[in-house]
Amino acid sequence: MEAELRKLIEETRKNVAYLQEVGVESVPVSRRKTKPVDKLSLEDVRRELGDCTRCHLHQSRTNLVFGVGNPHADLMFIGEAPGRDEDLQGEPFVGRAGQLLTDIIRAMGLSREDVYIANIIKCRPPDNRNPSRDEAETCQPFLYKQIAAIKPKVICTLGNIPAQTLLNTKQGITRIRGKMHDYKGIKVMPTFHPAYLLRSPGEKSKVWEDMKQVMKELGLKPPGR
Ligand code: URA
Repeated sequence: MEAELRKLIEETRKNVAYLQEVGVESVPVSRRKTKPVDKLSLEDVRRELGDCTRCHLHQSRTNLVFGVGNPHADLMFIGEAPGRDEDLQGEPFVGRAGQLLTDIIRAMGLSREDVYIANIIKCRPPDNRNPSRDEAETCQPFLYKQIAAIKPKVICTLGNIPAQTLLNTKQGITRIRGKMHDYKGIKVMPTFHPAYLLRSPGEKSKVWEDMKQVMKELGLKPPGR
């Protein structure tokens, strides 16, 4: 990133020197104002992301996975990165872990269309490797803008990485789950990732405890009660 920035500055310097050499004294600047982040719509964020080639992950992706659901949802789920199924379908959480997430959402009396689901990273890292720091840092601003556009009341992070990213902590999920945290005035409930629940079904009851807190915060009652 730093090397790229240095290269860009050097190229800009050369271009300016060339323009001066050929007698150009000023360059017209567009007066179009960019919207402040808190005024962006989800469509604005999607448009800005475009057919993203900002990091190497675009080379191996089938589809960019932006997010899905209600653009004004009270509840937002955030995972880490698309896997194989998500890359193929262009939608987050559609594989086995996704099916379990859908079941959790239904158990809360909601549907996937009621909530918003996104990931920190929008393109699948090859072989599901962890995203590099560079890739994560390039992609994260778009997640922050998605949150600013949706303005959810509660965010539920799934697994270690999204919780650590949003809450700016190195603490592990086992320590921080089960309690409400804060991200810019939005309540954040970190809980286990559904893929972990597939491997350790005995932990499902803890996730349900976490979801009950989320429902309470949103004034929701479990269905059938
Ligand atoms: N795991 C994630 O973190 N995100 C997905 O979209 C799918 C699986």
